[in-house]
Amino acid sequence: MLYLAHKMKSIQTPSYAIHFNALAYASLVAYLKENNFSKIIILVDENTHEHCLPHFLSQIQFETSFEIIEIPQGEVHKTIATCMEVWRSLSDLSADRKSLLINLGGGVVTDLGGFVASTFKRGIKFVNVPTSLLAMVDASVGGKTGVDLDLSKNQIGTITFADMVLIDPEFLDTLPKNELRSGFAEMLKHGLIRDQSYWSKLRNLGALTLNDLDGLIHHSVAIKNEVVTEDPTEMGIRKILNFGHTLGHAIETYCLDHDHVSTLLHGEAIAIGMILEGYLSSKLCGLSQEELKQIKTTFYAMYPSVVFNKQSIKEIIGLMQSDKKNSHGRVNFVLLNSIGQCQMDVAVDEALILEAFEYYSA
Ligand code: GLY
Repeated sequence: MLYLAHKMKSIQTPSYAIHFNALAYASLVAYLKENNFSKIIILVDENTHEHCLPHFLSQIQFETSFEIIEIPQGEVHKTIATCMEVWRSLSDLSADRKSLLINLGGGVVTDLGGFVASTFKRGIKFVNVPTSLLAMVDASVGGKTGVDLDLSKNQIGTITFADMVLIDPEFLDTLPKNELRSGFAEMLKHGLIRDQSYWSKLRNLGALTLNDLDGLIHHSVAIKNEVVTEDPTEMGIRKILNFGHTLGHAIETYCLDHDHVSTLLHGEAIAIGMILEGYLSSKLCGLSQEELKQIKTTFYAMYPSVVFNKQSIKEIIGLMQSDKKNSHGRVNFVLLNSIGQCQMDVAVDEALILEAFEYYSA
């Protein structure tokens, strides 16, 4: 794949830098030289070991030797049991507090690897090298690390920033189309919550090419970073990144736990969540009918639709009520006033959520 020769400017956060394309590798080399790590360990899963590690190693010459730790691929392995394996392997490799963990993979690898690093010997440094679109525009940026607790996503974790995030869209060459679309849902979300013209640009893209994606990923990361910088620990404004996730997460968990429905990728579930929460926005926060329709048609055109019966909706609402983002027993939504502008902490009656499912299915 030939990329335009333009250089994407690095994005500097208050505590680390996000580097793009060729500059990413040059920055990593300089960082390794500066830090003189006792050991470098690369964490991969089965997939990224086979498809991404060769490209990564072709871009960078390590002056010291490195070790590889592989975990099984998939969300079902985002558990404390997998962390135990990685902690043990780090220990067997005699990793110490001056060792570096490089997380090369999608959101599971960067979230789990970040958590393992933030807790091993009370914390070692780590670098994220996201290889999926979802991890590039969301998971690897912003310091959230963690694992799932049974079926509940990301219940155990820390907010610990990577020392550096390296974004190389060439990894997307080998990513299946549905995974690309999954990450794209988070980018559409960035437009909906913060940038109307970005939303319009994304929804009118037509075919998604990797050349387009280069600049768009940069734009999405810049939006996410702006929000995280304002509120790193999610006491306030960072909650807006959860638009579509209150119901979307519950739908994702529901589908994972029931054999009669297909499992949805994260972005596919939050695409449904954004239609539902778009409906709630039109009822409670002034989102116009025209913009609501635009949201529904955009997500319907790009993502699989799911049939929800009464029982499934009841279970989804139950799952939503037990989500970790609730406080004082209340479910709080982020809703849109208009495309590009949103509002946090909106309480919603169950009856309106049922109406939203009717709107989704209509
Ligand atoms: N994925 C939402 C956040 O990082 O806050």
